[in-house]
Amino acid sequence: MKYDTIKWGDSCALLLDQTLLPSRCVYVKCRDEKDIYSAIRDMKIRGAPAIGIAGAFGVYLGVRKSPARDAGSLIKRVKKACRYLAASRPTARNLFWALERMEQKAMSMKAEPVEKIKEALYREASAILKEDKLISKAIGANGRPLIKKDAVVMTYCNAGGLATGGYGTALGVIFSSKEKIKRVYACETRPLLQGARLTVWELALRRVPVTLICDNMAASVMARGKIDAVVVGADRIAANGDTANKIGTYNLAILARYHKVPFYVAAPLSTFDLSISDGSGIPIEERQAGEVKKIGGRLITVKGVDVENPAFDVTPRDFITAIITEKGIIKTPGRANIKKISQLNRR
Ligand code: MRU
Repeated sequence: MKYDTIKWGDSCALLLDQTLLPSRCVYVKCRDEKDIYSAIRDMKIRGAPAIGIAGAFGVYLGVRKSPARDAGSLIKRVKKACRYLAASRPTARNLFWALERMEQKAMSMKAEPVEKIKEALYREASAILKEDKLISKAIGANGRPLIKKDAVVMTYCNAGGLATGGYGTALGVIFSSKEKIKRVYACETRPLLQGARLTVWELALRRVPVTLICDNMAASVMARGKIDAVVVGADRIAANGDTANKIGTYNLAILARYHKVPFYVAAPLSTFDLSISDGSGIPIEERQAGEVKKIGGRLITVKGVDVENPAFDVTPRDFITAIITEKGIIKTPGRANIKKISQLNRR
């Protein structure tokens, strides 16, 4: 089965509703920036690169029917749409990267007619989508040499085609090494079960042998010597290499270190945030208590219990063996090698 995480439809963006997977494949129609905002906030679309792509189309959708008569007024509208969409989710750097890119595109066309700017914004969002698919393939190819023959790999959350424009970052590494991979262990990823629902679905579609485990089983699986490598994605990487990813990633990194298993992060350069010195500065999204108190809509605890629900945690760079990007591998991530590779991303 072939699916698109996000595509352009008849005057609307079509997003595969990830809250319904794997039971149902339904595309939601987003006709304006408000639809995109809700889809991101409610995690109908999720995963750092995919959120960025959706945000970019959101900017276009936000201005395409604007009555603005001159470039100045349209650019004001673009900035407003960017500010609005930026408030949908705070952690994934790729969202802000994509919104900045859309705003810059509009700003670079100050002297152009309104219709031409609108058209350019559509083309820019489409380019972000197209480039992201190529970036995932490049990450996959670059990560391939790190995977040994008959490897058993553990992954967390979903960093696959559903989290990107297609193919995936961590899963991109797995897909590009498919014939070398004996099995993937997918952690279920509470509270929203992206591992159980999405990663298992994607691996099964591509016929990669997969075993699903509950998050609290990872230590025991590693202790039995079953895992050759852990590969995860990232939502934001600070200038020193500290990496924010789905809550529970840090647990896995500690386990990997203890059991001497290499721990790889796979991410595009648009996930790096050099304006943040280290992980303590990465904004961590706190989500609704209901996500923890319920599973599949059913209450599993005492109604009034206090809950914490941070959506991400930060893995200190010392726990990361290497970061795999589209421009190459950063071994023992640190300020100098991150700065050097990030410069390759200047457009
Ligand atoms: O809350 P989500 O599902 O948007 O979080 C996504 C992740 O944290 C993924 O694990 C991923 O690594 C980042 S996207 C490739």
